[in-house]
Amino acid sequence: MPDIESLLKEKRIFKPNSDFARQANWNKKTVREYRALGAKNPQRFWAKMARENVSWFTPFKKVLDWKPPFAKWFIGGKLNVSYNCLDRHLEGENAWRRNKAAIIWEGEPGDTRTLTFGDLHREVCKFANVLKARGVKKGDRVALYMPMIPELAIAVLACTRIGAPHSVVFGGFSAEALRDRIDDAGAKLVVTADGGYRRGSPHALKPAVDEALEGTDIVGSVVVVERTGQATKMKAGRDFWWHDLMDEASAVCAPAKLDAEHPLFILYTSGTTGKPKGILHTTGGYLTHVTTTSKAIFDLKDEDTYWCTADIGWITGHSYVIYGPLACGATTLMYEGVPTYPAPDRLWDIIERHRVTIFYTAPTAIRTFIRLGDEHPKKHDMSSLRLLGTVGEPINPEAWMWYHRVIGGKRCPIVDTWWQTETGGILITPLPAAVDTVPGSATLPFPGIDAEVYTEEGDPTTPPAGGYLVIRKPWPGMLRGIWGDSARFKETYWSQYDNTYFAGDGAHRDKRGYFWIMGRIDDVMNISGHRIGTMEVESALVSHADVAEAAVVGRPDEITGTAIVAFVTPKSGVEAGGDLNAALRMHVTKQIGAIAKPAEIRFTDALPKTRSGKIMRRLLRDIAGGKEAMGDTSTLEDYSVLARLRESDE
Ligand code: WTA
Repeated sequence: MPDIESLLKEKRIFKPNSDFARQANWNKKTVREYRALGAKNPQRFWAKMARENVSWFTPFKKVLDWKPPFAKWFIGGKLNVSYNCLDRHLEGENAWRRNKAAIIWEGEPGDTRTLTFGDLHREVCKFANVLKARGVKKGDRVALYMPMIPELAIAVLACTRIGAPHSVVFGGFSAEALRDRIDDAGAKLVVTADGGYRRGSPHALKPAVDEALEGTDIVGSVVVVERTGQATKMKAGRDFWWHDLMDEASAVCAPAKLDAEHPLFILYTSGTTGKPKGILHTTGGYLTHVTTTSKAIFDLKDEDTYWCTADIGWITGHSYVIYGPLACGATTLMYEGVPTYPAPDRLWDIIERHRVTIFYTAPTAIRTFIRLGDEHPKKHDMSSLRLLGTVGEPINPEAWMWYHRVIGGKRCPIVDTWWQTETGGILITPLPAAVDTVPGSATLPFPGIDAEVYTEEGDPTTPPAGGYLVIRKPWPGMLRGIWGDSARFKETYWSQYDNTYFAGDGAHRDKRGYFWIMGRIDDVMNISGHRIGTMEVESALVSHADVAEAAVVGRPDEITGTAIVAFVTPKSGVEAGGDLNAALRMHVTKQIGAIAKPAEIRFTDALPKTRSGKIMRRLLRDIAGGKEAMGDTSTLEDYSVLARLRESDE
């Protein structure tokens, strides 16, 4: 990350384009009105959004019940998320949407499928009946470990139809990681596929499920989608092919009428300890938040072809590939594979062929494409695009400018959206018709969101100033807890400041009051927009028989934002070197997944520690950051010297 001084010197300002502003769902006047209402009475603002953007079977009686840190939104209201994403687009004045594309899907090999709202409704009802027939009841958890294929969206929506909270586990996670998540959530059923396509070849998923389920008996059934056709072992009585079960299922399934606070899903994310936390989201508040923000920030219209490149295994895929856009009745595009296969212009080719109008991606992807060269996007007609977005990590102003110029043709507004797995939906963002943008800044809180920058002591700062990003009032999409661990929920988010949500990010506000998110201030790294805890990687490393001790830090990386550097002390008698290096990288991949594999492993006979035994991460971060100067990674280095030097300073 460039330092804050240079960021704040950013002078380029982009006013909303008047053609865009004229047609926007939320124009300047609407935004002014909503900001005023959201500031004066956030509950009234959110109640209005809940009534306008969400369909309720029974209206709510009370907007908010706030017993910090526990919030309940829209009390007494009953609704169903799949009804909001599907059925309501098949009825009354929206009935014409039955034959409109809900999902346009493209597989990596180039195969495509389009599911209309009518198709998706039928498939979801059928799969909901499959779940019921397999014994899944309201409240039971279902784990989904799948490639980016339409069946993943179908399965997610089928869970919501019957009120079974889903836990989607990213297909890149290992069997070990999958097992932890299945156990923690107590999942009763797993949906997977034989495999998916990655970089031109089939990548198996089912064997990881088999491995994860060894020795546990909580999972009664595994449903397997046939995607690649690769040889797949099926366990009789436990494993079933998706197509066999679907063939027999009825397409009639009434949506369950669920309480606004009924659990909708659990999504595991990294924190500062080795154990991932199951972030819990519920029904009415979450849906209100993602639907309202999709409509306002992405300006979703019936004519749009909207594409968010996130994997459904992450929160962005939940909120802004599936729930937000479908609840708005929009067409959402899903792509299965890697962005550079078979050629570096794959994404731009998809945009041209499908006439994509709104494109939402991560800064790390943008930086990768900058490096690959302008000739790839320039080969394609991307004049269909009208709005661009970014999410997941800070975007450096030069990447923003490239996105604006080369992808957006200088005509598309860019929304740099700040939010988290915990926040459910976007909290800080430009509104494309109403907010001037400055490259690198996420600009202002969404109406109804009370974001602030605090000092360490908990005093609000007066801009320009930097500090800790906090949210002072509850919002509808906020997490309701950590699955099975309310002590950790309180400790992680609510113990820094009284009744105030602590996000774990550092932020700066400029003279205009604009927010500049500086990234994590705790031991969570942001690798290509994906959260990985340093402790998670450390526990994986020390679980290897040759490792005595390990410390993991992030170092800045031009493309991925942060790269993982591990400092490892081998057990005595173990030879540090290339073989161990390779073995450890493989071990971490097996324990967590390839995304957590260290970019660099440095062996040391001692780790720098304070007198009380705490590893001095700041020191390691400095060492890791000065990579070039330190030479070969496979030799044993003596950082204890540095530690001893530091110790004498304390
Ligand atoms: C970071 C992803 C700067 C931040 C939706 C946050 C960002 C973490 C932005 C959450 C942004 C997300 N600018 N940083 N626009 N968006 N982040 O839970 O550090 O995977 O705390 O949610 O990503 O990551 P998560």
